[in-house]
Amino acid sequence: MDSNPINRRTFLWIVAGTGLGLVSSGRAAGAANKAGASGSGHARSLTSGPKDYKRLVGSLEGFSAALVQEHVRIYREYYYEFERENARDRFIDLATSDSLNSNWRDHCHAWLNLRNALVLHENYFDALTPLSMDPGDRLKRALTDAFGSFDQWWVKFRATALAVQAWAALVWDEMLGRPVVIGIDNSNQWAIGSSPLLVVDMAEHAYCLDYVGRPVAYLDAWRKRVNWKVVEARLLKVARS
Ligand SMILES: [Fe+2]
Repeated sequence: MDSNPINRRTFLWIVAGTGLGLVSSGRAAGAANKAGASGSGHARSLTSGPKDYKRLVGSLEGFSAALVQEHVRIYREYYYEFERENARDRFIDLATSDSLNSNWRDHCHAWLNLRNALVLHENYFDALTPLSMDPGDRLKRALTDAFGSFDQWWVKFRATALAVQAWAALVWDEMLGRPVVIGIDNSNQWAIGSSPLLVVDMAEHAYCLDYVGRPVAYLDAWRKRVNWKVVEARLLKVARS
């Protein structure tokens, strides 16, 4: 299923999307924290491994098995690269840090990009289903309160998705105390204090194999595969209503 051209193209997408090109293990594996700090204070346990999304391959109407398989492979690459980045930070010379060009600067950018890319991809895949669902009344009410109606929410969400190069998201904004729609071109642009309820991946690798030049068709196909029960559960968890 995975032809070499797709794999090479996808690799370039990963590099462009995460800034991995800025980080090389050779550069990072130099002196062991000459400044003396451990640098591991923000590391998290990654012992569980990437999530298993094999159930989605070949089961999503509107998405070819090849596309989903390739996208899941990319997600797994993010996971393992994030794992490597967490291990890498203990071996970077903190004393040479500067804001123009340094290994620590590269690491800080890569770490944040990879962390958010990992969370967003899991949020995306977790809310896909082979089933056809409608949003529940509680979710519809929340969207109607915030956007006027479910349909008006969708118009705004779709316009946002078409305006960005990475992610459109329905989030719970803790500051405003209501759902809002955001759009970002890079994973590290996430809105502080907001929790994702529903995200759609607008990177080319998420749809071009099936919908090249047709992002609207991709969005329509994706909407039919949304697991609205998952979205509502996320809303209830963060909104505490
Ligand atoms: Fe993706």
